[in-house]
Amino acid sequence: MGSRMVDLRERRLEAAAKEASPAIHCVELTKRYGSTLALAGLTMTVPRGEVFGFLGPNGAGKTTAVKLLLGLVPATSGEGWVLGQRLGDVDARQRIGYLPELFRYQPWLSGREVMALHCRLARLPRSVWSEEIAAALSLVGLEERADDRIRTYSKGMQQRLGLGVALLGAPELVFLDEPTSALDPVGRHQVRQIIYRLRERGTTVFLNSHMLTELEMVCDRVAMVDRGRVIATGTLDQLLSGNACRIRVSGLDLGQRRSLARFGDLDDDGEAITVRGLGPERVPELVAEIVGMGGRVYAVEPRHQSLEDRFLELLREG
Ligand SMILES: Nc1ncnc2c1ncn2[C@@H]1O[C@H](COP(=O)(O)OP(=O)(O)O)[C@@H](O)[C@H]1O
Ligand SMILES: [Mg+2]
Repeated sequence: MGSRMVDLRERRLEAAAKEASPAIHCVELTKRYGSTLALAGLTMTVPRGEVFGFLGPNGAGKTTAVKLLLGLVPATSGEGWVLGQRLGDVDARQRIGYLPELFRYQPWLSGREVMALHCRLARLPRSVWSEEIAAALSLVGLEERADDRIRTYSKGMQQRLGLGVALLGAPELVFLDEPTSALDPVGRHQVRQIIYRLRERGTTVFLNSHMLTELEMVCDRVAMVDRGRVIATGTLDQLLSGNACRIRVSGLDLGQRRSLARFGDLDDDGEAITVRGLGPERVPELVAEIVGMGGRVYAVEPRHQSLEDRFLELLREG
């Protein structure tokens, strides 16, 4: 009786430790392919429930990082944990979904058959297959084409199928490697909606992309990678420091326009004045100042430095 209680307590502690462990934690993960340094000491922590963006140009090491984290490829050095388990742990891998960057499904199978195959590979109990498949098909909007053969699918549909496959079994952590690369704007919008829904469910999403605008909209935090190294990481607000405000205004003379420089750096194109380095909390004061001088305000637009500009800036600094 006593030992049973200890056992239970230990198991509960173990479960709590698992809960508390971050979704991903790695220290100095490095991968060499011959003379190519594909990943040069990746150290990062991704808390549970985050949509984490891994951003960098082609060849930066994004796919390599994902393969190491999944345990598909051994690290040259360094160590890591996913869902509280060492890289490559089979139990953890069953709780992880993966959309590879390059994949081709058997063209002679139907979408539903591909999903059933992956239910089997994921060792999901057969009793839940049809429910899991229906949920995944609905999430990626493929219900109506589920019984058509893959060879009749467009590239975008195949990518959505891949996304559906990655979500079978409600994984706690999902790696999506360039999930929108084959998609048109509508398809990209759909993928974003799916990611929003995953976030609502509390699923951790690790999203590889070289498309900055894609990450900007969905990610809580972003790491920027270049040539195997993380060059910056943080929330978008932290990374995109430069706040600005663009005001369309008339009725001010040149001197009055210039006097606004006390709010920040001015960029005046005659029609609109852009004030850089101005926190949102000072916008009402700026507008009041303009109106007080007799100016007429037609529009006040917040400006954010784009992730793209920031990335290029960091590359230049590096
Ligand atoms: N299996 C491999 N063998 C040799 N070199 C590889 C292999 N996989 C990736 N690389 C090299 O590692 C670097 C990073 O590649 P990758 O991780 O695919 O970058 P990304 O996904 O950011 O485009 C590249 O220089 C690539 O050529
Ligand atoms: Mg890649």
